[in-house]
Amino acid sequence: SRKRQVDETLAPFKLSQEQLQLVKATMRAGLEAGLKNKGPSAVKMLPSYVYHTPDGTEHGKYLALDLGGTNFRAMLVKFKKGLQNNTRLYHKIYTVPLEIMQGTGEELFDHLAQYVSDFLDYMGMKKAHLPAGFTFSFPCEQTAIDTVRQNSLLHWTKGFKATDCEGHDVVNLLREAIKRRNEYDLDIVAVVNDTVGTMMSCAYEDPQCEVGLIAGTGSNACYMEELKNIEKIRQKKQKTEGDEETPETSRMCINTEWGGLGDDGSLDDIITPFDAEVDHNSVNPGKQRFEKLTSGMYLGEIVREVLLDLTRGGLLFRGRVTETLKTPGIFQTKYLSQIESDRLALLQVRSILQHLGLDSTCDDSIIVKEVCGAVSRRAAELCGAGMAAVVDKIRENRGLDHLNVTVGVDGALYKLHPHFSGILQETTRVLAPQCNVTFLPSEEGSGKGAALITAIDKYLYSMRF
Ligand code: BG6
Ligand code: GLC
Repeated sequence: SRKRQVDETLAPFKLSQEQLQLVKATMRAGLEAGLKNKGPSAVKMLPSYVYHTPDGTEHGKYLALDLGGTNFRAMLVKFKKGLQNNTRLYHKIYTVPLEIMQGTGEELFDHLAQYVSDFLDYMGMKKAHLPAGFTFSFPCEQTAIDTVRQNSLLHWTKGFKATDCEGHDVVNLLREAIKRRNEYDLDIVAVVNDTVGTMMSCAYEDPQCEVGLIAGTGSNACYMEELKNIEKIRQKKQKTEGDEETPETSRMCINTEWGGLGDDGSLDDIITPFDAEVDHNSVNPGKQRFEKLTSGMYLGEIVREVLLDLTRGGLLFRGRVTETLKTPGIFQTKYLSQIESDRLALLQVRSILQHLGLDSTCDDSIIVKEVCGAVSRRAAELCGAGMAAVVDKIRENRGLDHLNVTVGVDGALYKLHPHFSGILQETTRVLAPQCNVTFLPSEEGSGKGAALITAIDKYLYSMRF
C-alpha cells in the first residue's frame, strides 16, 4: 500500500537508541582527536583564546559586528558594572544577497564595510572610533584573540563561497575594506565564532553557561575545555618557571566545528541516499557531513529529495514532478516549521504547499508533513547525541558523577521549529543521564557576546602575555 511504501522510504531516517549512542561515541572520539596535535581532523576543535565567561564587571561602549547564517548585524552595546539586566543595545540587521555571498571576497567585505557605515550614520557615530568585536560564523584558525595575530578563515561553510578569502586573515579583509572607504575608523579588537559569542552572551546572565550551540543555517557547538587537554596549545606555550596556571586560566573555550564530523567517513552508516544527493549538489561536497544532517540550510533540501523520490514512484503529487519541486531551496526552515506546527489543520498545510507552488491533495499533505517530521526529528536527535558527548566530556574532565550545565543556544531551527528544541533536549537527557542540561535561548544574538569578549580582552592580555 501507499502508506507502507512511504514508511519504507522514511525508515532509514529513524535512528535506534543504539545508533544514537554510536553517534555520541563517534562525536566523543572526534572531539578527542581534534584536541590532539596530529594534523587535520574532521572535528577541528579550534582554540578561541577565550579563557573565561563574563563576571559582571564588564563595562563600556562597544560595537559588535555579526556575520551569521544569512544576515549581517551591526550593534552598539553598552555594559554597566554589575547591571547585567540593564545592557543597552541598538542594532540593525542587513540581509547579505546571494550574489555577494558567492562573489569576490573584496565585494563581500566592501558590502560589510558599507553596512557598518550605514549603521554608524544611523547612530550618529561616524567619528567615534569605537572598539569593535566581530562575530564571524565560520571556522577560523586563531593564534590569539587579538587580531594583530593570525585569524585566518580555513574554509567557507553554509552557502558562502566568496573568492580570495580562504587562508586569509578576515580582520585584515575587513580593515582593508574600511580603508578603501576612507570614511570612518574602527578598532577591531576580537574575532569570535557565533557559538562562542552565544555562550558568552548567555553566560552574562547565567554563570552555569559553559556551552554554546547554534542550530540555524549551520550547526555547531563550543564549550569550556581544560587547557591541559588542549595539546595544540600546550605545545605552543613555552613553560617558564613560576608560570602557574590560576583557576581562571585553566580552561579555554573550544569552537568544536562539529559540523565536520563524518568528513572522514565515520557517519557513512547513517547517511541515506537522499543525504548523499544533497551533499553532492552542495557547494562543498564531502564536507560538513554532520552539519548537512542537522542544520536549517540542508533539512529542506533533504525533504525535497525525499518528495522527489516519492513523486517519481507515483506516491505523491499524482506522480507529476513539477519545476517547483526541482527548485533547490524552496523549503526554508520557516516553511518546515509551519508545516510541522501541530496547530495547523491539514487544509492549512495544503495552503502552505500551494503558496510554494505545489498542488496537493489531502493525502499528499499528510505525507509531506510526515517526511518533514522524519527529517527534522533525526536532525534534533543527532544534535542531541552531539550535545550528550560534549556535556559528558565536561563532566568527566572535572571528575564529577553529576554535572549541572547551561547551554546558550541560537539559530532559527532551535527558535522557530515547533519540535526541534524538545527532541534535542529529550535526546540529550537520555544519552547523558549524569548531566542536568538547561538550554537557554540567547536573546540578543551572539554580537553581545563578541562585545563582552572585547570588554574582557584587555584584562586577558594583562594576564596572559
Ligand atoms: C544569530 C547570531 O542570532 O543567530 C548569529 O547572532 C548566528 O551569530 C545566528 O550565526 C544563527 O542563526 P541562523 O538561523 O541565522 O543561522
Ligand atoms: C557553520 C560554521 C560554524 C558556525 C555554524 C553555525 O558550521 O562552520 O563556524 O558556528 O555554521 O553558524
